[in-house]
Amino acid sequence: MTVVGAGVIGLSCAWRAATAGWRVTVLDPAPASGASWVAGGMLAPLTEAWPGEERLLELGVESLRRWPDFAAELGGAGLRTEGTVVVATGAGDRAELDSLAEHLARTGRAVERLTGRALRRLEPALGPEVRGGLSVPGDLSVDNRELLGALREAAEQAGARFVSQAVTCVLDDGARVTGVRCAGGHDRPAEVVLVAAGAHSSALHPALRGLVRPVKGEILRLAHRPGAFPPPRRTVRALVDGRPVYMVPREGGGLVVGATQTEVGFDTDTTVAGVRDLLRDAERVLPGIAEYALVESAAGLRPSCADNLPLVDAVGPDGLLVATGHGRNGMLLAPVTADTVLGLLREVEEVA
Ligand code: GLY
Repeated sequence: MTVVGAGVIGLSCAWRAATAGWRVTVLDPAPASGASWVAGGMLAPLTEAWPGEERLLELGVESLRRWPDFAAELGGAGLRTEGTVVVATGAGDRAELDSLAEHLARTGRAVERLTGRALRRLEPALGPEVRGGLSVPGDLSVDNRELLGALREAAEQAGARFVSQAVTCVLDDGARVTGVRCAGGHDRPAEVVLVAAGAHSSALHPALRGLVRPVKGEILRLAHRPGAFPPPRRTVRALVDGRPVYMVPREGGGLVVGATQTEVGFDTDTTVAGVRDLLRDAERVLPGIAEYALVESAAGLRPSCADNLPLVDAVGPDGLLVATGHGRNGMLLAPVTADTVLGLLREVEEVA
């Protein structure tokens, strides 16, 4: 089996497949880079929920249920279990969070509403502009970079082989997959190919054309400095005059601040406006970050499908599998995706 793409989805699938006995080769010119490297790492089905996206909510909740075992098998993988608060500044933001709470209650997932004062008791780093919000202890986070390292190591230990090559297309004879073509024109035979190349997946086979598009997200990494106010322990998500911003703590005083959301093709520049907006809104929620170091700015391309659901299926000729389209939820959906792909592989085995 050949896995095209070594982001969180490709690595998770490669690990699970190698553990299940498949001979796995992973092709990626820069493993563990791209959107997975840039990501904030929220595992947050409830606080990412939108009315009309109930299937995504169900899938996210199911994947989150599998996360503790998934992380434990990887030796921890940077999973944090402190939970999440979602906070509002203005009256419009509070109304928006009320709607989210009502929506979640309708789906049987009540969340606790808190005043600004109660929120500051939980997280003293929250500033005076925070007027109220929600406590969502079940929405977790993971250190995406620690996770990627753990996944690669586990995949290699299970026998997966990594080759630093870019794939330009999946080859088939019309009915069956025969291999992949690598950059430079070199063909590699394969009977089963899993395309897990994120936003680039659509370009790899005609059956995938137009199914996935890139949605750019800019993100910042800050670091606490001696004397500055300590960072929050929980993930803090906020609405600031209608604009969403999140701040995800890391071990050792790091804080990931994200994210912009724009559709500008395959552009991965970080813009002055993106950095400015994120810092302005984050500082209104956590005023202490003004004294932190700004250590990194980066942009990733979320692979997004029209219905905002991931695309994890067999498509096109026999032997072509795809796992992409995870949008804002790649980290969250990794366990359920890897399990689904294992199921698809079993079907392939039965047919062969
Ligand atoms: N998961 C958050 C984001 O995509 O920005």
